Amino acid sequence: MASKTDVIDDLLSRMTLAEKIGQLNLVTPGGETLTGSVVNTGVAEKVKAGRIGSIFGVKSPAAVRALQDLALQSRLAIPLMFAEDVVHGHRTIFPIPIGMAATWNLSLIEETARIAAVEATAGGIDQVYAPVVDVCRDPRWGRMAESPGEDPVLASRYAEAMVRGFQGDDLSRPDATMACLKHFAAYGAAAAGRDYAGADMSPMRLHDVYLPPFKAGVEAGAGSIMAGFNTLNGVPMHANRVLIEEVLRGRFGFDGLVVSDYTGVDELMGHQMAASHAEAARAAVKAGVDLDMVGESYLNTLQASVEAGLLDASLIEAACRRVLEAKAKLGLFDDPYRRLKAGEPPAELPSAHRAVARRAAADACVLLKNEGGVLPLSRSAKVALVGPLTNDRVNMNGTWAVSGRSSDAVTILDGFLEAIGQGGGIVCARGCNIVDDPVLADRLNVHDRRDLSVSIDPRTADVLIAEAIAAAEAADVVVAVLGESKEYSGESSSRADLRLSAGQRRLVADLKQTGKPLVLVILAGRALVITEEAATADAVVYAWFGGTETGHGLADLLYGDAEPAGRLPVTLPFHEGQVPIAYGEPKTGRPYTGRFEKFRTGYLDLPDGPEQIDGLFPFGFGLSYSAVRYGPVTADRTSLSGDADRAVISCEVRNDGDRPAVDVVQLYVGAPVSPISRPSRRLVQFERLVLAPGEARTVSFAITAADLATSVAEHVADCRRDWHGGAFRVFLGANSRAEQGVDLIWTKDGAVAVTS
Ligand code: BGC
Repeated sequence: MASKTDVIDDLLSRMTLAEKIGQLNLVTPGGETLTGSVVNTGVAEKVKAGRIGSIFGVKSPAAVRALQDLALQSRLAIPLMFAEDVVHGHRTIFPIPIGMAATWNLSLIEETARIAAVEATAGGIDQVYAPVVDVCRDPRWGRMAESPGEDPVLASRYAEAMVRGFQGDDLSRPDATMACLKHFAAYGAAAAGRDYAGADMSPMRLHDVYLPPFKAGVEAGAGSIMAGFNTLNGVPMHANRVLIEEVLRGRFGFDGLVVSDYTGVDELMGHQMAASHAEAARAAVKAGVDLDMVGESYLNTLQASVEAGLLDASLIEAACRRVLEAKAKLGLFDDPYRRLKAGEPPAELPSAHRAVARRAAADACVLLKNEGGVLPLSRSAKVALVGPLTNDRVNMNGTWAVSGRSSDAVTILDGFLEAIGQGGGIVCARGCNIVDDPVLADRLNVHDRRDLSVSIDPRTADVLIAEAIAAAEAADVVVAVLGESKEYSGESSSRADLRLSAGQRRLVADLKQTGKPLVLVILAGRALVITEEAATADAVVYAWFGGTETGHGLADLLYGDAEPAGRLPVTLPFHEGQVPIAYGEPKTGRPYTGRFEKFRTGYLDLPDGPEQIDGLFPFGFGLSYSAVRYGPVTADRTSLSGDADRAVISCEVRNDGDRPAVDVVQLYVGAPVSPISRPSRRLVQFERLVLAPGEARTVSFAITAADLATSVAEHVADCRRDWHGGAFRVFLGANSRAEQGVDLIWTKDGAVAVTS
């Protein structure tokens, strides 16, 4: 039997230049949900002529089959590869990625990706444009919703779990799909949080913060990577040869496919890097971008560029080889229909998939405040369920759920009704609109011309509030569900104002006046500024968008059938003037001391306290319904030396409460002195625990010199990880403000202090 390499060599030897270029052409015929403003035409004829290699956004297995039939009629019968955006589930929608990251639950994250792969492949999908692994520290950027958050270690573990879930250990399996890490690189650092804007940063920051999840995803075997729309230090990623060829392929050893983003090749003209489609296409090929998504400039110009001697044909051959290799890994040469065996997807979602989605929707919720133990709710309490998102199906899936159906989603009201059964009863009131500005509402309804995600109630604000107050007065407890609509975050959804809308803020203040216990549930795709409302409410739950099972998951959590498990994957700012914000930013030479002082860092117009610099709720923070206590932190040794040494850091974690507790034990490391200014601490390891009432567990982390290492780089392409000898402080605790820890002296090459 011929090996895969033989098959590919043989094909390449028989392909014309035009056919090779055809394999680099990636198109979309457009579906119900467009993800860009241009779609391709003449798709069927081009497929038959061997002028298209891959297609995304085909919505039915029958259409996939019909297109594959055409591809097999082309001269060399090279099968098409089909792709789709499967960002947080395919038909069963899981919490938005920032919510999945909030679970810190790697096996659950992997399980959701596995289910997504099973569902997507049943529809003929060979490749998924996921996971998004853009680290993001600026909640103005709407794609924080798709991001695993601000921390490179959490994002790296997320990337690996998603890749494992999608691909399994054999990509040729009919239920395995090729992952595509996106968007390479530093897309999440868009200046001022404006989507598509560029990022400028030091090589160290790039390698320490933004590249690790890509590297981790590559090491986990991801088959493809998508270039970002952004520039990085002035060079658009679609023309960034240094990042793609030298760092990604050269240093990280990535041997898979690099896909452009939607018309990203042509946008080199917008970036003023190319004057024509032909120039743009040449720059992208030279940079190592294999597939041209939607723009068709490769198709239309590359042959002429080669013939004019402006482009080396071997670059096209190399890109085409990578496409053919991807198809071979996916088993498409053996059976082009291998992912279509399941036939049409079931009309109903499998209950096993719903069960995982329900668990995920609950686990993603972060309990931020619970004064007086107002949560969990008692089933006999009468609840006023208030807010425009309570009886809503359209928004529950959140952004980028292109194959999900809102009709599958469970509303919060339905979740509550099922939870209380014959209990205390529920009285509902809308209370306010998601937004009151009709222009903004229209922008937010971009994908929902039939079924609006944002509607403006014709009644006045006073009438809506009066109805909500009446509901609150007739109830024992108020649950107000507020925040964003699904497209209020996501692509091209940057926000300048990160607060709840004025109508929502007023509703919270007025509900508080009733004197009823007030539970605030936030549905959002980013870290909003909820400073006043969090102070007002008795309990606060940050629930993101929970996906198909939002209503069940949230009710499970609020009624105590599920324990609070989520931890913030991003800092919640105290004020939007603080963003970008992340824990552990390097200290200044005039560090903040806990109160504002002239000639020290800080904000004149923010109150004193840790919030001034660190935000309202720190990264890693989340409460439980139980009472978890940390014992003293110990190290088996505090004097260490050399690369091979290791210390075991331990702590007893005890559940003193009478309910089970989920806890995420986090280990941070910082160095009081280092050769260049570094973050004051950074997460290096974590462990998620479930503790029975009264249970105590000793959690131990073995740390090695590798955990001390950071990037040392003069230039982006020339980076190594290294550590220095000296003093280190290891913090162990329940969030990024953990104060308990141990001091270590770790010598290197006999040197004690880095400055010596
Ligand atoms: C997004 C990508 C997505 C692509 C295809 C682009 O607008 O940036 O994340 O994969 O569209 O839908």
